[in-house]
Amino acid sequence: MRTSLYVHVPFCVVKCGYCDFNSYAIDDGEVHDRFLAALDAELELAAPPRRPYTVFVGGGTPTHLSEARFERLFEILRRHVDLDRAAEVTVECNPESLTKAKAAIARAAGVRRASVGAQSFDDARLRWLDRAHDAEGTRRAVTALRDAGFENVSLDLIFAVPGQSTTDWDVELDHALALAPEHLSCYSLTFERGTRLGRDLEDGRVTPADESVDAAMFSRTRERLAAAGFTAYEISNFAGRGGPSLHNDHYWLQGDYLGVGPGAATHLSGWRGTNLKVVERWADSIERGLLPTGEAEMLPLRRRLGEAMWLGLRRSAGVDLAALATRLAIDVQAELGELLRGLEAQGFLERDGAAVRLTGRGLLVADAITSQFLGR
Ligand SMILES: C[S@@+](CC[C@H](N)C(=O)[O-])C[C@H]1O[C@@H](n2cnc3c(N)ncnc32)[C@H](O)[C@@H]1O
Ligand code: SF4
Repeated sequence: MRTSLYVHVPFCVVKCGYCDFNSYAIDDGEVHDRFLAALDAELELAAPPRRPYTVFVGGGTPTHLSEARFERLFEILRRHVDLDRAAEVTVECNPESLTKAKAAIARAAGVRRASVGAQSFDDARLRWLDRAHDAEGTRRAVTALRDAGFENVSLDLIFAVPGQSTTDWDVELDHALALAPEHLSCYSLTFERGTRLGRDLEDGRVTPADESVDAAMFSRTRERLAAAGFTAYEISNFAGRGGPSLHNDHYWLQGDYLGVGPGAATHLSGWRGTNLKVVERWADSIERGLLPTGEAEMLPLRRRLGEAMWLGLRRSAGVDLAALATRLAIDVQAELGELLRGLEAQGFLERDGAAVRLTGRGLLVADAITSQFLGR
């Protein structure tokens, strides 16, 4: 089975109010150097395939590393894997730290796809989200990527920000489309526990957008991006000229992947491990010659089936139940027949040959529907 590689760079200039990813506002060059040395050693220990299917360098903020360290990051990766022959190589870029030189370094190292965290083109909204850049910074970042030769640029956007109207969101989409991205990811703002916004919500300092506003923005996004030639291949992801993200699609199809870096997850045929999250603990383990696995489990078959549905239903192609039954060697009808029939009868799911997928109604309440397949 083909295996992808995920590389996690856990540093950011600030911790954004909504973000619960494993990232830290650490600006200390010594820590960055230790991280790079440990990453090199982890790749030696973990031994990824020389030719991974896809490679994704994410975070955190990979571009938060200095130009010299950013270059070293790719030298290290190139020593362990053949970036030139991977089907897709992506790096996440933040507008505040992507320089022309970093764009050129990534391109020269064999990175062909860049994912830019734009989030919004309204400076007040960016500040509200604690972003360290303004809209002009995002435009500069896209120009730097184009100048370096990137022909596949994706933008991340967040909607349903409190106070944002559907007209405001339309303007955001106008700004994003004006940059002619090859791919767009549009996420509805979630208030995660333990984040600044999560605490603001608990303490009553913020009121989330109304569900009807969220749903209107979701539908509007699909209409606008379809009209602009994008295919909604996943709930939050829209493929333009650059096609879908092969790396993320591989996750949603429950593919095998190896994750390196603090907190990175690995999934290999039902075995799932998560690296130690704290940079120092992760590095300590590697420096002693030990893989930095923090938690690991062999997923029971039923969990794998539940997760395959939970992830797969996010894709507009839905889940091919016959292929799933073969892949997991499990009787899908015996396990899920009743739940599937119930959701179909309620108009949330529909069949298309061997595939099952969310209906338009189901899409609007996708999390509530897909999570029913978990914890069974
Ligand atoms: C790994 S994160 C961030 C990558 C990069 N450091 C950046 O800031 O753009 C990937 C994307 O998830 C989205 N995201 C993260 N937390 C979110 C939340 N609580 N609600 C909605 N979208 C979120 C953001 O659009 C973000 O760009
Ligand atoms: S959204 Fe990006 S920049 Fe902000 S804290 Fe999370 S990973 Fe860092």
